[in-house]
Amino acid sequence: MKRVLRVVGRSPDRTRPVDLGVLLGALPNAVVLLDAENRFKYVNQAAEQFFGQSASQLAQLTLGDLVPEDSPIFLLIEQVRAGEVTIADHDLQLESVRLRKRGITVQGTPLPEEPGSILLTLQDASTARTLDRQLTFRSAARSVTGMAAILAHEVKNPLSGIRGAAQLLEASVSPNDRELALLIRDEADRIRALVDRMEIFGEKPIERTGLNIHRVLEYVRKLAQTGFAPHIRFSESYDPSLPPVWGNRDQLVQVILNLVKNAAEAITGSGNTHGEIVLATGYQHGMRIAIPGSMVRLDLPLLVCVRDNGPGIAEDIRQHLFEPFVTTKPTGSGLGLALVAKIVGDHGGLMQVESRPGRTEFRLHLPVLHEDAEARP
Ligand SMILES: Nc1ncnc2c1ncn2[C@@H]1O[C@H](COP(=O)(O)OP(=O)(O)OP(=O)(O)O)[C@@H](O)[C@H]1O
Ligand SMILES: [Mg+2]
Repeated sequence: MKRVLRVVGRSPDRTRPVDLGVLLGALPNAVVLLDAENRFKYVNQAAEQFFGQSASQLAQLTLGDLVPEDSPIFLLIEQVRAGEVTIADHDLQLESVRLRKRGITVQGTPLPEEPGSILLTLQDASTARTLDRQLTFRSAARSVTGMAAILAHEVKNPLSGIRGAAQLLEASVSPNDRELALLIRDEADRIRALVDRMEIFGEKPIERTGLNIHRVLEYVRKLAQTGFAPHIRFSESYDPSLPPVWGNRDQLVQVILNLVKNAAEAITGSGNTHGEIVLATGYQHGMRIAIPGSMVRLDLPLLVCVRDNGPGIAEDIRQHLFEPFVTTKPTGSGLGLALVAKIVGDHGGLMQVESRPGRTEFRLHLPVLHEDAEARP
């Protein structure tokens, strides 16, 4: 199907041909052409993402290979074929072993030139919602930016004064009072550590290089196994052919460390003695993400997953998970995931979370190093 459209400029001589595939590839919605036997005849990039399969894999399949026979989507397709009219469903459930999509918007249009063929457009409402929320998280993280700057500048200086004074007192007061002076010093240290953690929220440009994400993952795994998670089993599922990520090593260590720490704390907190954390990477061909409500499309083919078999994220905090100071832990600061959202956002990446009892997965979509990366602003 090689058709060419003409793009109309302001004057007739400024028209130029554009390949239809390029236009369809740029659409944020999944577009699928099915033949009379429901075989995939054409899929755009958003459709590859929607079905989680590449175009060449889909070319070998029918829709029935991916969706159970009794799915309402087949009813819609039959109605389109029978009536030769366009039919849309704005809340269709699409569930199968491979797909778990609820409330998708599907539109089916017959193609009279090719009898039996149907053009389907699909939009995954949950993806749109996840991305929406991700963007809100990012702005929530930004909202602490100003506060972080104030804390860093206005609190640190007097704090070192307080700490110094407490240290002087320690040397000159009675043993009983010394304890109080020590308490002041320790608490001052605790505030200082909190402020240091907040400082990352400041708007500083990040320095990036091309780096091997597996080194970052392995570094964090060793930290965990020798430090805070010696009792937990780690397994890795790395894609060895992964290209370098375009990022800042120390910040990515912080991201993975926070995710692994949370996973370990969730497992330990639930008393699970068969705790397991899986670190996985992968490359998603044609993985581009369209931001709802904007024209921006991100090219984020690199996938990093941190998965645990803990009890899952508490229902009541899910909507606010990435906001600062949201925590269920008695001694938690609730800054870990806000920090993760901020760093991933600064890298131009996106994050998704899926959680149920026994399986919580944080997925990071990150950009790869391009040849011209150094030249970028
Ligand atoms: N893997 C996970 N499984 C279950 N719950 C999680 C998981 N990761 C995060 N959470 C929940 O999200 C909350 C927020 O996490 P976040 O890392 O932002 O803060 P925290 O871990 O409570 O404190 P901090 O990281 O500052 O020490 C946690 O308190 C926990 O309830
Ligand atoms: Mg944490």
